[in-house]
Amino acid sequence: MTIQWFPGHMAKARRQVTEKLGLIDIVFELVDARIPASSRNPMIDEIISNKPRLLLLNKADMADPKVTKEWISYFKENGIHALAIDSQAGIGMKQIVTEAKHILQEKFDKMAAKGIRPRAVRALIVGIPNVGKSTLINRLAKKNIAQTGDRPGITKAQQWIKVGKEIELLDTPGILWPKFEDQEVGLKLATTGAIKDTILNLQDIAVYALRFLQENYPISLKERYNLEDIPNEIVELFDEIGKRRGCMMSGGITDYDKVAELVIREIRTEKLGKLTFEKPQDKSED
Ligand code: G4P
Repeated sequence: MTIQWFPGHMAKARRQVTEKLGLIDIVFELVDARIPASSRNPMIDEIISNKPRLLLLNKADMADPKVTKEWISYFKENGIHALAIDSQAGIGMKQIVTEAKHILQEKFDKMAAKGIRPRAVRALIVGIPNVGKSTLINRLAKKNIAQTGDRPGITKAQQWIKVGKEIELLDTPGILWPKFEDQEVGLKLATTGAIKDTILNLQDIAVYALRFLQENYPISLKERYNLEDIPNEIVELFDEIGKRRGCMMSGGITDYDKVAELVIREIRTEKLGKLTFEKPQDKSED
């Protein structure tokens, strides 16, 4: 389900997360490993404030492993604890527990010194729609608790989910809005499928994605579409792909919408391999 984010929704989402912050020790901020910067909420630092945080680069199974490593180092250099995980397959779940305990070690040691009995670490998952919040909750809970997909307007009593003996997780994640202002961010969110029924034009998304592949993953592009050379002109690239994959209209004219749809679908389903659409260097160049 697509959520239209109006100012009222944003204020409510923010309030809901802020209210929960008082109940927890740590925030698990979930992002998409293919777009670790573009899949963050634009106000996340302000919202979370000084609450300890563990950044989780989810869907790492679909991202370029080399670039994921660069991102993890980048975040660490900037004082943010970060882990790459795959919630669908359940990879990285133990590290989440270990890392969360490590981050909170000092706080819990101080509590112990004051004679406060040890308790589980309390956590809240937050992130924009589609980054995999419900999937992660279900993985950690080892059962189906969170309904995947967003269901605005449905509220229920807040519950804690036990993750082993060491973590307690709020069963409802904090759903925050994505960045809208930057058109390139929108194109990245659409390419990866974070925004599905997009207001962006299908051909615009495919042009962006193909240009990105031309520059960053030319071998994957050549292999997938049996191209000897990659045409420089984007229209020619559409034509070549169209010819090879039968996306043609009568009279031998390329069906550009069909090519666009095909390319986007194939990127989202990993047919062009593991791709990451932004690097830490791009961020420092901003
Ligand atoms: P949300 O609560 O943050 O909105 O996200 P949700 O868990 O519903 O996950 C969105 C989609 O992403 C789901 O696919 C889910 O299976 C997939 N997903 C979540 N974590 C991972 C991961 O680590 N790796 C991979 N490969 N996929 C992951 P879906 O229900 O099939 O929806 P869709 O694919 O049609 O978007």
